[in-house]
Amino acid sequence: MSLLVVTGLTKRFGGLCAVKDLGFEIDAGSIQGVIGPNGAGKTSLFNLLTGFLPADRGSVRLEGTELLGRRPHVIARLGLARSFQLARPFAGLTALETLMLPLSLPARRAGFAERSAQARELLDVLGLSHKADTLSEALNQGELRLLDIARALAAQPRLLLLDEPFSGLGTPAVRRVVQCLRERRQTGGTTLIIEHRLRELMPLIDRALVLNFGARLAEGTPQAIASDEQVIEAYLGRQGAEV
Ligand SMILES: Nc1ncnc2c1ncn2[C@@H]1O[C@H](COP(=O)(O)OP(=O)(O)OP(=O)(O)O)[C@@H](O)[C@H]1O
Ligand SMILES: [Mg+2]
Repeated sequence: MSLLVVTGLTKRFGGLCAVKDLGFEIDAGSIQGVIGPNGAGKTSLFNLLTGFLPADRGSVRLEGTELLGRRPHVIARLGLARSFQLARPFAGLTALETLMLPLSLPARRAGFAERSAQARELLDVLGLSHKADTLSEALNQGELRLLDIARALAAQPRLLLLDEPFSGLGTPAVRRVVQCLRERRQTGGTTLIIEHRLRELMPLIDRALVLNFGARLAEGTPQAIASDEQVIEAYLGRQGAEV
């Protein structure tokens, strides 16, 4: 069953069409990759889905509810949470406090002790326990990225959107994130993930959407995508042989 159904999604910046008549679906309980060359429109797609950018045309339905035209905080409340391609600190907040924010959403209705325990567990899962009381602006880029992923997870979204979550991470940290996403899938969670690190991405995902010049170039299983001539031509190149 589809959790998200996108049709005809279009966004222009002046003469440039960043997202062009895009349609795709995401199965509930799956992990779907979004791949494609730099400038293909991947981050713009996330900005449209989460209400950070207004769309020119199209429809984005979350279990039948139209998301286009709604504000980002409303879309967040409906169940979408995202991480950012460039992770930024919440100035003045520690790592632990950063995670307590999404955990204090009214829908969570958890007490302080419970929220604090959940935040510590997330830090532990992502290998950041030792940074719990460090101010977020004092974290390095890799730690900030993990914290940004943890913040999105803390919202317990129905659809989690991660924009290049492996970027800047070492192998042990990537393994932690991968493990975390696999466990999320086992409990029915749905994830859409933009990545260029295909060696780590492809074994994790159920399907991939390939964008090129804002449009859908291909969609399918990692195996089908890796051997698709058009995808190899436009993006994978020699890397395709390694996937
Ligand atoms: N706010 C904006 N104003 C004008 N042009 C923009 C804006 N945001 C994105 N673009 C353009 O839209 C196109 C798609 O950009 P986008 O950031 O979505 O690509 P991407 O697939 O995420 O690339 P990357 O892999 O490098 O992150 C690019 O040509 C970019 O320059
Ligand atoms: Mg991007």
